[in-house]
Amino acid sequence: MNLSNVSVKSETPSSIVDWEKIRADFPILQLRIDGNPLIYLDNAASSQMPQQVIDRLVRYQTTQHANINRAVHYLSEVATHEYQQARYTLQHFINAQEDREIIFTSGTTDSINLVMHGYGRKFIKAGDEIILTTLEHHSNIVPWQMLANEKGATIRVVPINDKGELEIEAYEALFNENTRFVGLIHVSNALGTINPIKKMIDIAHRHGVPVLIDGAQAAPHIPIDVQSLDCDFYAFSAHKLCGPTGVGILYGKAALLESMQPFKGGGDMIASVTFEKTTYNTIPHKFEAGTPPIAAAIGFAAAIDYLMSIGIEQIAAYETTLLEYATRCLNQIPGVTILGTAAEKTAVLSFTIDGVHPHDVGTILNQDGVAVRTGHHCAQPIMQRFNVPATSRASFAFYNKKSEVDALAAGIKTVQKIFL
Ligand code: ALA
Repeated sequence: MNLSNVSVKSETPSSIVDWEKIRADFPILQLRIDGNPLIYLDNAASSQMPQQVIDRLVRYQTTQHANINRAVHYLSEVATHEYQQARYTLQHFINAQEDREIIFTSGTTDSINLVMHGYGRKFIKAGDEIILTTLEHHSNIVPWQMLANEKGATIRVVPINDKGELEIEAYEALFNENTRFVGLIHVSNALGTINPIKKMIDIAHRHGVPVLIDGAQAAPHIPIDVQSLDCDFYAFSAHKLCGPTGVGILYGKAALLESMQPFKGGGDMIASVTFEKTTYNTIPHKFEAGTPPIAAAIGFAAAIDYLMSIGIEQIAAYETTLLEYATRCLNQIPGVTILGTAAEKTAVLSFTIDGVHPHDVGTILNQDGVAVRTGHHCAQPIMQRFNVPATSRASFAFYNKKSEVDALAAGIKTVQKIFL
């Protein structure tokens, strides 16, 4: 990707980054909704795509597309090369030791299901225990419940305190001789809590237990180094990182991936096939059956290049200033309660308004062009812990600005005028 037209370089401090210029890279932010400017505060659900990534997808589709790993013609060789380059980009983004430790999947959910089928169904047995946390998204609960039901294993759950932080002593106390696996969300999508995953991985490893990190909400906001974390698996999706939908990665330590059984069967994941017996390809191909999301993976890499050209640290610092400002604004409105007040948070504000259902909040805010998510955020155990059916959630990205926080606060006051 040609980065010459990207607005800043990574060594630039966030205070002097030209965030308005970066915002201009996102054509969708020019939209008007019912005459109002779009104020997009639903980035934890899916972020928007800059022109640089859109251009990369167009260039791929107009000059480089063919199937990969299957033919010797020009386009097939170009597409195969570009897809492999995308794998290298992802490898470097998370500092994986080897490119074969990066498996392209359809997204975080698919990555977690891959680990459940590939690792869990092979190695977890009746009587074994799997540790999850109250903060997990359904995508890191349901696959493990399916496995536990099939095998006769048990799920153990780490509790949270009133701020939405994991209770680490309780976590450590859950380990025993039956513990076989830990599934852990890096950043809570519903509350924004950043979990102390390095410490939690170290604890699990002291008990000889592998750890899968759901990084869907972390990778867009926190620099990830899988070697320094020493996690066994790490999963995230492109569409929360300004990339396309339908693609994500699973990182896995090579030795673990090699020990696992395939998840999906089909073309490209085999070494040889007869009706008597199939032998499997090497990693990562063993886990990439069928035609992979070639264009999406190349767009994913372009999105990573774009974000790296700004710098994840700069993005995090800027988003933290937005979070602090938004927290102050909402705390000043009587009747508004913020759920999730962890000391370490990404720019996510889940809130309730006394006497108003979150779906009504979302509907009225939408009339002013303000897009937030309302509901249980695919994290019903968190809602149960706080004894609410749902919340409204504003989630910020580096292309948001303080005036949009002001619009959110004004919209909340309008909701209160209408309903109270
Ligand atoms: N998991 C995404 C969210 O939190 C969809 O909204």
